[in-house]
Amino acid sequence: MRSVLITGGAGFIGQNLVHAWRAAHPDDRLTVIDAMTYAANLRSLDPLIARGEIRFVKGDINDAAMLRRLFEENRFTRVAHLAAESHVDRSIDDPEAFLNTNVLGTFSLLKASLDFWRASGMLNASEMLNASGMLAASNQVRFLHVSTDEVYGSLDPTDAPFSEQSPYRPNSPYAASKAASDHLVRSFVATYGMPALITNCSNNYGPYQHPEKLIPLMIIHALEGKPLPIYGDGTNIRDWLHVSDHCHAVMAVIERGRLGETYNIGGGNERNNRDVVGVICETLDRAFAADPKLAARFPSCPAAAGHSCRSLIAYVTDRPGHDHRYAINAGKLANDLGERCRVDFQDGLAETIRWYLDHEDWWRDVTSGTYKAWIDKNYGFRIAV
Ligand code: NAD
Ligand code: TYD
Repeated sequence: MRSVLITGGAGFIGQNLVHAWRAAHPDDRLTVIDAMTYAANLRSLDPLIARGEIRFVKGDINDAAMLRRLFEENRFTRVAHLAAESHVDRSIDDPEAFLNTNVLGTFSLLKASLDFWRASGMLNASEMLNASGMLAASNQVRFLHVSTDEVYGSLDPTDAPFSEQSPYRPNSPYAASKAASDHLVRSFVATYGMPALITNCSNNYGPYQHPEKLIPLMIIHALEGKPLPIYGDGTNIRDWLHVSDHCHAVMAVIERGRLGETYNIGGGNERNNRDVVGVICETLDRAFAADPKLAARFPSCPAAAGHSCRSLIAYVTDRPGHDHRYAINAGKLANDLGERCRVDFQDGLAETIRWYLDHEDWWRDVTSGTYKAWIDKNYGFRIAV
């Protein structure tokens, strides 16, 4: 039985990873640590916690004493590190929290893991680096740092997609903080023989995503008849990766990836924001036409009156430093580990929209309280362009 620590497990990808991990490795003992920031939600984990099937600890990864205690109690052999401040717009508004969690928190977690693994003998110092400086292929303990393609900066329309060799050129405080954390992980590998790996993935979508991010924000705004705020001219391109594909790739990398290496994870789905919002509108229009009960549940949605949700699209002031295009060459993941994306974007998006239609209580809960203050702050100053 392996003892696994998932940081940020109450966030969007973290919750999905907990469920995917349990399905793939039912005998592993999972511990989730999460500071329960505005982005966290325990609804999908509560039943597992109540039945004692996972352990949940509310805590900050900057709390070194708490991490030490947790390692001593649980003797983790796997660490999947997802805890982060993750929203670019918030990093523009208030970068400090991003440095605290993404940079200092990652350092604190790296140090706690290395210290415990060395002291316990789970990581043997003499075996860590061989003569050519390569990490020993020991499978006993492994640390996976989940990062983003945003560390590579922005591509022009004709540039080749990002590969693991692409230079780091972060443009937002979020991307810079993730880049710094990647560099820390790399330095722990080279200097201390830390058995770590890094993944850099593209934009995830799927169930449990916080409605501050593009896809859930547009779905919920359309249902509530609110403007669909597209930044700038909407030609910015993202590569969309279904969260279930991401979770499978993460599990493959942590188990089978070569220690010390980086793997890019992409969805092979480059779309510009106009198109993504257009598909969301058309999917909702069709759903309302097919199911008259939706009009009764969401009377403010234009589709309830037979109009297209597209009528809500509003082009607004652009994000400063807005990266134009992200695209991923995921060839290394496919060639070395045999991992490929399974979810087609149209299917995945339709299923995601269905999930938000079926989980109104979840997003109503998430969009109450402080969320409203964020929406006022981020969108209040944006004017139609
Ligand atoms: P999220 O914001 O939904 O969740 C992050 C979780 O981390 C939250 O539950 C939050 O409470 C927790 N957290 C924040 N600060 C913490 C701290 N100091 N100590 C402990 N927990 C803390 O983010 P997500 O979308 O699930 O992203 C997970 C990881 O994947 C992040 O590292 C992010 O940078 C990376 N990533 C995400 C995407 C994406 O599209 N969502 C893309 C690329 C990379
Ligand atoms: P987002 O979901 O914030 O992810 P990221 O910035 O990490 O890529 O945004 C995805 C794209 O959608 C990005 O180009 C910014 C754009 N966007 C909008 O046009 N309007 C919005 O309200 C939001 C949140 C994002």
